[in-house]
Formats: sequence, C-alpha cells, structure tokens
Amino acid sequence: MKAVILVGGKGTRLRPLTNNLTKAMVPVLNRPFLEHALRYLKKHGVDEVILAMGYLPDPIQEYFGDGSRLGIKLIYMVEETPLGTAGAVKNAEQLLDDTFVVLNGDILTNIDLTAMIKRHFEVRPRASIALTRVDNPTLYGVVETDSSEMVKRFIEKPAPDKVTSHMINAGIYILEPDVLKNVPPATPFMFERQVFPTLLENGQPVLSYPSDAYWIDIGTPEKYLKVHFDLLLAWDSSLRKIRIEGRSKIDPGAVIEGPVLIAGDCVVEEQAQLKGPVVLGAGCYLAKEAVVEGAVLWPNSRVGRGALLTNSILGANSVIEDGVSIPESCVLGDNIVVDTECRLKKGGRLPAE
Ligand code: GTP
Repeated sequence: MKAVILVGGKGTRLRPLTNNLTKAMVPVLNRPFLEHALRYLKKHGVDEVILAMGYLPDPIQEYFGDGSRLGIKLIYMVEETPLGTAGAVKNAEQLLDDTFVVLNGDILTNIDLTAMIKRHFEVRPRASIALTRVDNPTLYGVVETDSSEMVKRFIEKPAPDKVTSHMINAGIYILEPDVLKNVPPATPFMFERQVFPTLLENGQPVLSYPSDAYWIDIGTPEKYLKVHFDLLLAWDSSLRKIRIEGRSKIDPGAVIEGPVLIAGDCVVEEQAQLKGPVVLGAGCYLAKEAVVEGAVLWPNSRVGRGALLTNSILGANSVIEDGVSIPESCVLGDNIVVDTECRLKKGGRLPAE
C-alpha cells in the first residue's frame, strides 16, 4: 500500500528547535523523527511512501535517499509554496491510483493502522479518519460521530462551552483516490477544513477510527520532551535501562540512573550525574560533577563542571559553562553558550523571556 507523509510545515511552534532543521528531522531518541513515522508505516504494510515536502527538503532527501535502508520505497515531492495538507497530496495525485494512507509528519502513535485499513475495506467509505481522545479539545479539530462511527460533523477548535466530544482528528487518513477530485491543483487546500466537510455536505460517507492507543504530536518543545519521557519510561523493565550506542567514554565514577540513552562519542566525567529520562546525542560532553536530569541534549553539546540542566532541551553544539544552573523547562537552541553568569551569550530562549 502507498502512503503520503506530510512533512512540509515550518514547525514554528517548535522553535528554536526548528531554526536549522525541519520538524521531520528533529531527533527523537537520536533518530530523525521521520524515521519513526516510516518504521510505523512499514510495520503496517506500507511499502511506498511519498514525502510531501516544503521547508528545508534537502536534508531529508540526503538522509533517507531511496529508502532502501528502511526497506521502503521513497518518492520526494517538493512544493514551491506551501499547498496545505490536501494541496500537498493533490500534488502527488498522478502517483495515487488506489486506496492510500495519509499521515501527518509530526505525530507519534501506536494506533493500529492495520485494523484501521481492514475496517476501511469492510465499510468502503470515501475517507477514514483516525480519532484520538484528548483532555482539552479546544486546540484541535473535534470530530463528532454517530453510533456506527460515521462522521457527522467537524468542529475546528471549539470554545470551551461548545465542546461536544473529546475525540479529535489524529492526522491519519485512509483515502480513496477520487477524493482528490475535490481539491484544486496548485492551490493551498486543507483536508481538515475543506475536503472532509465538503464530503459530508455532499452526502459522501466518512468513517472514523476511534482509538485509545498512544498518540502525541510533537508540535511544541514541551511535547517534544514528553515524547522522550514517554518512550524512555516505557522501556521494558527486563531490558537494560542504560543504553549506549557506539563508543562513548563513561567514567566508572559517574552516577547514572536509567532510563538513559547515550549516543556514540560522548564523554561523561567522574561524579557527573545522569538521572533519567535523559538522551545524549552523539559527541556530548558532561564535565565532572555536572548534573543532567530529565533532559534531551542534541549532538556535540557540553555541560560544564558542576553545571545543572533539568527538564530541558539543549540544542546541538551548545555549551553550558561551569557552575551554571539552568532554570527548569528551558529550550536552548543550537550553537548557544550560557556563560558562568547564567547569561545567554547567543541564541535560545529562557522561560522568563
Ligand atoms: P506549526 O508551524 O508549528 O503550526 O507547524 P506545522 O505547519 O509544521 O504543522 P501543522 O500542525 O499545521 O501541520 C500538520 C502536518 O502537516 C505537519 O506534519 C506539517 O509538516 C504538515 N503540513 C502542514 N502544512 C503543510 C503544507 O503546506 N505542505 C505539506 N507538504 N505539509 C504540510
């Protein structure tokens, strides 16, 4: 089966993490986020993926190539200007001659896509939409359904007193190719606000696939950190809680409490403390007595002697100088330096700013 992954968004809410990378290439457990999405699709029988790209497409193509490393055929479609979710899929219409999957490129989920596809073929609607439950649906596209799970109504970002359902569009669709006939070519167009409501207005059947499986979008730095915590804390208790990929130098006098994932070429000095969940990207350096707790560090970053980093994200090639305590929940971008006076020399964002 074929799938389209939408990876064209700018990821503005993920800044400063997306200052130099597209959302799809942001590392999750030291792999580009898109790799997790591709593995998910492959697990559910997808063998060909069209990547609908816009912002910063080249690094994606350079990293994934023809997809053979992951056992999936990859085709790249680049938009000159953003075409929106449906416009981007319309752009690939000539490649889509049979029932296909569309996946938002910023979600991580365990939704059973195989079962969703099976249900689609049993009911044969024009479109199936996966739904997930959220506590606060006011920030999302809410989907109302009837007792047989057919979609009745879409409500974009309802006001708190207008919430009628906690089930939201999860960003996974199964579509019949003729749905794209309702999308104008080379024009910004959205599934959520235009294509699906129009199908309902025209009396076309739209099926929902509600699921309580794990689902999260990495739309904000807070959720980016939460994805890591969720994945690391879900590590099977029978397996090692400290995983070191490649060659790293961990001093026997360092104190490490899992779950911790350490990429290759890292150095952790004596009496440095790593308290999981923590991910160190390749080439990170933790000086003596540095404390890193609940944090994600991108490649080649340094935490100085006695410095403290808690519940925060540190971008690539960044430095926290000796003795600095970074306030909780900081999102520090690439190439920044926090000096010994706890001043941000360049880049990044401290919570008080
Ligand atoms: P923000 O800038 O933070 O709102 O994020 P976004 O635009 O990256 O994401 P949004 O949540 O609006 O979009 C959901 C998914 O659709 C993401 O995976 C985006 O990459 C993707 N997407 C959004 N707009 C486009 C587009 O115009 N073209 C393509 N190809 N993908 C898009």
